[in-house]
Amino acid sequence: MKPDLTCEFLSLRLRNPMVLASGILGTSADLLERVARAGAGAVTAKSCGPTPRAGHPNPVAVDWEHGLINAIGLTNPGAEEEARMLAEARARLAPLGVPLIASIFAGTVKEFGDVARIIAAARPHCIEVNISCPNVADEFGTPFAASCESAAAVTEAVKRNVGDIPISVKLAPNVPSIGRIAAAAVEAGADAITAVNTMPGMLIDAEAGRPVLSNRMGGVSGPALKPIALRCVYEIARAVRVPIIGTGGITTGRDAAEMLMAGATAVGVGSAVWTRGVKAVGDIAAELAAFMAQEGYRTLAAMRGLAL
Ligand SMILES: Cc1cc2nc3c(=O)[nH]c(=O)nc-3n(C[C@H](O)[C@H](O)[C@H](O)COP(=O)(O)O)c2cc1C
Repeated sequence: MKPDLTCEFLSLRLRNPMVLASGILGTSADLLERVARAGAGAVTAKSCGPTPRAGHPNPVAVDWEHGLINAIGLTNPGAEEEARMLAEARARLAPLGVPLIASIFAGTVKEFGDVARIIAAARPHCIEVNISCPNVADEFGTPFAASCESAAAVTEAVKRNVGDIPISVKLAPNVPSIGRIAAAAVEAGADAITAVNTMPGMLIDAEAGRPVLSNRMGGVSGPALKPIALRCVYEIARAVRVPIIGTGGITTGRDAAEMLMAGATAVGVGSAVWTRGVKAVGDIAAELAAFMAQEGYRTLAAMRGLAL
């Protein structure tokens, strides 16, 4: 019997648990539609902030031996323009039955609320809240994701501004206790958690004697991130009861199964789309089905949280 890949995420029914992660191809309605047509269960747009941002100069993303490192610099068209794009994307995705997840970031708690209100007007099915960005009101520009207090403050501000649209708070892996931060976000109103964003890192060009990225430091993603992401999702699944989009280093169907076993409800794919192309998300779903058939799992529920 063919395995059943359908998945309940919040009040949404996904045809499979594979979700396009934020920042990879999610910059236009056209690209979001292409990933949906290629088999994704849901798609996430690239994060948008209050005002347009050009991002960093090249090179901004490098494929190294074990994944990617990027410092794109949160390039985005600003919330008003993004809301127009999302409204178009939502209309295009509706006949395909593929939910749309918007993604937002900001520099202050107040700005998070403002961006959330503008984006909510486009009626995405869910709003992901990227709190890995620096808090500009903090002397050291500490990311909101670094403490329970700032994660909770952003969550509350967003929740107050989105009406009935569910929110998923996206956590950073480089914190001492990610379970506590997830619990603080859920306590403050998060309906779901996305985990994780990239891990800070850097590459050095030994011949040139200088950093490879123009921004010097960047975020590590892809296979090097997988064990870190699995550990984070495992800790979050033990700390909270809300659904988790497990993200980080998922490249094959077998990786996706591991993420579900760590307690994820759905599975995000970013870097693999960069390396395997637009069909990656749908192809990983097909590989997951093949893995389930081979191992005798009929439903995702039979695998979910097995390793907890
Ligand atoms: C080029 C690139 C751009 C990204 N941009 C965003 C972004 O705008 N917002 C966000 O929340 N995450 C962003 N991410 C992080 C991914 O959504 C994801 O959390 C991370 O890459 C780990 O998943 P992966 O190993 O499957 O890539 C970006 C990642 C990459 C590689």
